[in-house]
Amino acid sequence: MKQTITFELNGEELTADVKANWRLVDFLRDELDLTGTKEGCGTGDCGACTVLVDRRPVNSCLMLAVEAGGKEIITIEYLERNKELKQLAEAFLSHGAVQCGYCTPAMLLTTWAYLMENPDPEEDQLRKALAGNVCRCTGYQRIIEAALDYQNQKMGA
Ligand code: FES
Ligand code: FES
Repeated sequence: MKQTITFELNGEELTADVKANWRLVDFLRDELDLTGTKEGCGTGDCGACTVLVDRRPVNSCLMLAVEAGGKEIITIEYLERNKELKQLAEAFLSHGAVQCGYCTPAMLLTTWAYLMENPDPEEDQLRKALAGNVCRCTGYQRIIEAALDYQNQKMGA
């Protein structure tokens, strides 16, 4: 049986019928074709499936699609509409913080959410904020450098 939900997705209101047992990650990828959101572990451990729910990072493999009702959901596809998120992605690229790219959508969204709340971050705080996002390729240092460089440029430092 399906339930009708209305929510905001990447800046647009959307109404959809969802099954009670659908996970948000499957709804986004399989029903809405938003395949930028990746699934890694499926158990809440890797962070690859992170999306923003009301501007906070959430593992979409642990959230039901019905729970999106009334909320604001942001996926990595939002960077086509949002200049800041796009600039952060460009900083990742220019710093070599993207290698296989599997963790990158989640890493970008988690970083962006953190920087919105913490415009003057300390490096160790940023590392803690990203601790739930696993990257097997970069060693994290380039990701941190990209994020700090982006933020410094944004703040005019
Ligand atoms: S796929 Fe959701 S946390 Fe790993
Ligand atoms: S770039 Fe490959 S997992 Fe992060």
